[in-house]
Amino acid sequence: MNVLINAGPTRESIDPVRFISNRSTGKMGYAIAEAALKLGHAVTLVSGPVSLAAPEGLARFVRIESAAEMAEAMKQAMPGADLIVLCAAVADYRPVVCSSSKIKKGEGRLILELERTEDIALSLGKRKRAGQILVGFAAETDDLESNALRKMREKNFDWIAANEVGKPGRGFASDNNALTLYAADGRRFNLELKPKKVLAGELLSLILNPL
Ligand code: PMT
Repeated sequence: MNVLINAGPTRESIDPVRFISNRSTGKMGYAIAEAALKLGHAVTLVSGPVSLAAPEGLARFVRIESAAEMAEAMKQAMPGADLIVLCAAVADYRPVVCSSSKIKKGEGRLILELERTEDIALSLGKRKRAGQILVGFAAETDDLESNALRKMREKNFDWIAANEVGKPGRGFASDNNALTLYAADGRRFNLELKPKKVLAGELLSLILNPL
């Protein structure tokens, strides 16, 4: 099976030395890539800037920085993929203007104008062909289930893995995580708090070997 995974944060430049980003380290997405490799799949990993080494044995490894670059790489790789897992924390906003020189500090406030980035999951959901399995993530601080189910419906996912973020010991940057996995057909699985590397294998086995 050809598996396409995205992982890590994106960076949206403000000027040559500053950017908007988030706390994603890529640990969850890289763990899924490693688990898919262990199962013998051909894996393409599209990664934002993280400090992890690329897993050995990848069919393709694409490093990107911005949401626009991530969108381009994912759209290019999507047609050949059987399973697509969207674990990246893509910035939802970017500065309207990226200054070509370092912005000098002055007295008082600095107001940055932001615009929406492309919703990559939404774009891929619209392009999904028969037989492709599209799996999204939902990172939530509140109303985990209703937000996850709404995202699955709006973005045409077949599965969504919902995680609570903003609590210590799980979610962003931790080695551990807990997930609730929802299928578009109504099934639901609770994956308790455990190492992301273990969770990744369980996630793939539920998606690839439906009961
Ligand atoms: O990288 P780690 O430090 O290990 O942390 C893991 C994680 C918390 C980042 C991961 O488990 C996770 O939740 N990833 C999804 C983060 C996210 O952006 O969730 P969201 O609920 O905002 O987005 C919903 C879905 O749409 C996600 O599949 C996301 O990849 C996708 N999306 C969002 C915005 C956007 N512009 N384009 C997208 O494709």
